[in-house]
Amino acid sequence: MDERRRLDYLGAMGVDVWVPRHVAAGPVERSDETALVEPALPLPGQAAPSSVPPYPQPGHPTPPVRAAAPQIVPNPVAPEPVASGSVEPDPSDGPSSPDPTKLDWDALATAVSGCRACGLRETRTNTVFGVGSRTADLLIIGEAPGADEDRAGEPFVGRAGQLLNRMLAAIGLAREQVYIANVLKCRPPGNRDPRPEEVKQCEAYLMRQIELLGPRAILCVGRVAAQHVLQTDAPLGSLRGRWLEFRAASIPLRVTYHPAYLLRSPDQKAKAWEDLVEVARRLREGVGTVIGKGNDKDQAD
Ligand code: URA
Repeated sequence: MDERRRLDYLGAMGVDVWVPRHVAAGPVERSDETALVEPALPLPGQAAPSSVPPYPQPGHPTPPVRAAAPQIVPNPVAPEPVASGSVEPDPSDGPSSPDPTKLDWDALATAVSGCRACGLRETRTNTVFGVGSRTADLLIIGEAPGADEDRAGEPFVGRAGQLLNRMLAAIGLAREQVYIANVLKCRPPGNRDPRPEEVKQCEAYLMRQIELLGPRAILCVGRVAAQHVLQTDAPLGSLRGRWLEFRAASIPLRVTYHPAYLLRSPDQKAKAWEDLVEVARRLREGVGTVIGKGNDKDQAD
């Protein structure tokens, strides 16, 4: 990627960047959302963001070959009682018919598009299966489709999705080079939090996506995705800032803020940038898993 654009992306994330004079002097094309923050300095204790080598591009050395992901079983924890007023699962056609653990990508996508396992079948416009490269090294997991995604049938296409694209671009990854999926494949009306019975019905789909993809790293964006995937109630602030592992498959997993939260709280973008730099480093170097200490305990999405 051209240096000018990369700096624009970093600026859009709200990360102060040091701009070499020759770059700063170049022609600038900006939208409001990609305006560069100047003057700028590297973050304390960190190299200038512009020095972070991007993830290998075509022609660059490829990262170490990954092992096939072991079989991933859905969460054995019993579902919460069905909330009053919600629509009961339709036993005639749920995620277990056909059994998602046996399906290939296309069959899984077909199963999701016809899923009637929970009440969200009544309110969705489209199911939102996932998007990106089915051989991607990085899997990004969000919470659930919003209104834009429900209309388009594709995850992260609204404003939050555009910020996510810019965040990825800042570490040298195009949206098409990663795989993006959500915990829920259908939109909860009014963008409410997913209900436990919805998550339970949808879980086998995400587990099979992870199994088929066998990513080298997972990035959970937001509290809901992180808590579900990690099976914890811990606040987001205690989950980000360190490498974790995805269940028995031991896939390195990182947690960061949801881009929608970053749009509301741009002062947190520098922390998101730190998370992304770590993910980029991990993909580039394939270093051993480091389970470290958590960060601050702020309550955030
Ligand atoms: N938020 C999410 O978590 N996922 C989407 O696909 C869109 C917004």
